[in-house]
Amino acid sequence: MLKINSIVSDIDKIRRAGELLRLGEVVAIPTETVYGLAANALDEKAVAEIFNIKGRPQDNPLIVHISEPNDLEKLCREIPESAYKLAGEFWPGPLTLVLKKKDIIPDIVSAGLDTVGVRCPRPKASRAVIRAAGVPLAAPSANISGGPSPTKPEHVIKDLDGKVKAIVDGGACSVGLESTVIDLTCEVPTVLRPGGITLSQLKEVLGKVDACSAAVADNEAVRSPGMKYRHYAPKAPVKILIGDVSRAALFLRDRSVKNRIAVICFTEEEELFYGTDVVTIAYGSKHEPAELARGLFAALRRADELNVTEIFARLPEGGEGIELAVINRLEKAAGFNRIVLK
Ligand code: TXA
Ligand code: MG
Repeated sequence: MLKINSIVSDIDKIRRAGELLRLGEVVAIPTETVYGLAANALDEKAVAEIFNIKGRPQDNPLIVHISEPNDLEKLCREIPESAYKLAGEFWPGPLTLVLKKKDIIPDIVSAGLDTVGVRCPRPKASRAVIRAAGVPLAAPSANISGGPSPTKPEHVIKDLDGKVKAIVDGGACSVGLESTVIDLTCEVPTVLRPGGITLSQLKEVLGKVDACSAAVADNEAVRSPGMKYRHYAPKAPVKILIGDVSRAALFLRDRSVKNRIAVICFTEEEELFYGTDVVTIAYGSKHEPAELARGLFAALRRADELNVTEIFARLPEGGEGIELAVINRLEKAAGFNRIVLK
């Protein structure tokens, strides 16, 4: 496997990654949100290989990544004014626009839908690779399906070593959880997945914006097919622990007599668990939702490495900022399991 350091001056390596992609190979690339498992979006066979490598269900569509906002028009039709407004404001950046697709997008990318999700990532390295490939890149998160997304090159190596031709190393992801996915094909723009661009930022540009609930039953028809699958989850079961932190500490201390427990908590809470058998994994300050977003997936992966039998997680308070995305990922990792301490 070729590991490519993505320093942008390292033109030969970026060019090599581009060549591999043009030849139909799958390459892991950095973005500001999470690492992506990329292939030529216009090449059905290359895209099929992404599904194979990830073990991804075929009915879950992929996001297409472009290096220039203007390329949107090559991939989509009936583009509403709202798309231009959002692209103007937030691209390059962690926002995916769902729009009517042109025929150039193969069905395998859109999982048979007549729409496609498109985004222009922010880092120079991501855009340099797309430009070097000379084609738009379909890319889901570069993890094995169902597990936590990768936010550092070592996460990608752990999941995909030997399965991809190259990993472009762009260091740690600055946002740390996935892009916001917004559907612009309906009357009121609707957030299908909260992410790096917040609901309040979207409302500032568009006025009215709806948000889909994260809780979706498996058999329900869903607008974003990815929403119905188990997601972001380590091997041990995750439970959300709601309530005052000193109660939480007592509850987990008792429980840790019989179980090997890790708690994913705020840095401010860590010391309350000292002197117990509970392993603490602090994922950031409760006052810094962006820090929580950056630390979350690494914390879920760390919990896996500890071989614990139960993982508990503390949720930030909800607002309209990036904490919404943190809550969404944790609730999904927990399969909506909650313990509320009274
Ligand atoms: O930040 C991100 O978006 C990362 C990086 C690599 O760009 N990618 C990512 O891809 O998170 P993935 O495949 O892990 O998640 C894509 C989500 C899924 O929930 C999928 O169902 C939804 O976007 N999606 C993609 N195309 C869609 C479409 N046409 N309509 C509705 N939902 C769509
Ligand atoms: Mg994913």
